[in-house]
Amino acid sequence: MTDKRKIYFNGEFVDELDARVSIFDSALMFGDLVFEMTRSFKHEPFKLREHLERLYVGLKILEIDPLMTIDQMEDLTKQVVEMNLPTFKPGIDFQIMHSVSRGPLGPYHSLFPDGLKPTIYINCWPLYWHVGALSHLYDTGVNAIITSQRSVPAQYIDPKMKNRSRIYYQIANMQAHKFGDDAWALLTDDDGFITEGTGANFFIVKNGELITPEPRNILRGVTREAIINLAEKLGITCHEKNIEAYDVVASDEAFFSSTPFVMMPATKINGLTIGNGTVGNVTKLILKEFSKMVDVDIVDQAKKMRPLK
Ligand SMILES: Cc1ncc(COP(=O)(O)O)c(C=O)c1O
Repeated sequence: MTDKRKIYFNGEFVDELDARVSIFDSALMFGDLVFEMTRSFKHEPFKLREHLERLYVGLKILEIDPLMTIDQMEDLTKQVVEMNLPTFKPGIDFQIMHSVSRGPLGPYHSLFPDGLKPTIYINCWPLYWHVGALSHLYDTGVNAIITSQRSVPAQYIDPKMKNRSRIYYQIANMQAHKFGDDAWALLTDDDGFITEGTGANFFIVKNGELITPEPRNILRGVTREAIINLAEKLGITCHEKNIEAYDVVASDEAFFSSTPFVMMPATKINGLTIGNGTVGNVTKLILKEFSKMVDVDIVDQAKKMRPLK
């Protein structure tokens, strides 16, 4: 059941299930694709421009010309949202995904008489696909598992560029999931310092102060930045510095941050209790302030989405 959602796909608006990416596409051959995930609050895309700016930096690095300006991409996004609004019930927010690859590769050009063009699609879907099933974890917190799969060092593939060469995240997820449904992968760099989750940034709280890994070898999350700004507003000091597994064990609180769920408490690290094992006060305070900023009770909304399929 697609609820008749439409997507932008290579210059047209088509039903989401009708979009077809060529088997000759560089995205399939090399994972050569950059993407973005934005979410709405009250049906308004949150920090869409920041997401598109990150997308366009990735395109610049990969030397992919999307054949449209960032303003045109933003306008198209608004059209996709507008077109799909009737499929989203009131109070049900949505996610928007932008994906851009180089398109079919040169050696196969004879199969594409109109020329080789980038593959571009913008699609959206209800937030409950990703967040509904997680909603109980806002109360219990997750068990952060430091996986043997590490982050790929930034000097090989720069994680600041949100790209689809992500098989190492999938392997880390598989390793973490062996520890249960509430286990989330937490990756480290070559020196053993925490980097990030497989789709989220990471923070700890110690003596009322926030600590998060340096922006050097992680995806610089839009949510991470919003949290740092909110913390400043609340008078909570935030340090960007190296964190070892030891620091997480010794911390009072910890949480992941990412666009779809915003903040997710981690109450265990490798099965060991963090702080007193419950969701901490600083985590709760920042999440409450985030909810105030976007005028949506993030946890309450997630819980309402749990039964939806
Ligand atoms: C590897 C990784 N780190 C961090 C994040 C969080 O980024 P944002 O807050 O912009 O969603 C994501 C989001 O998907 C991610 O994939």
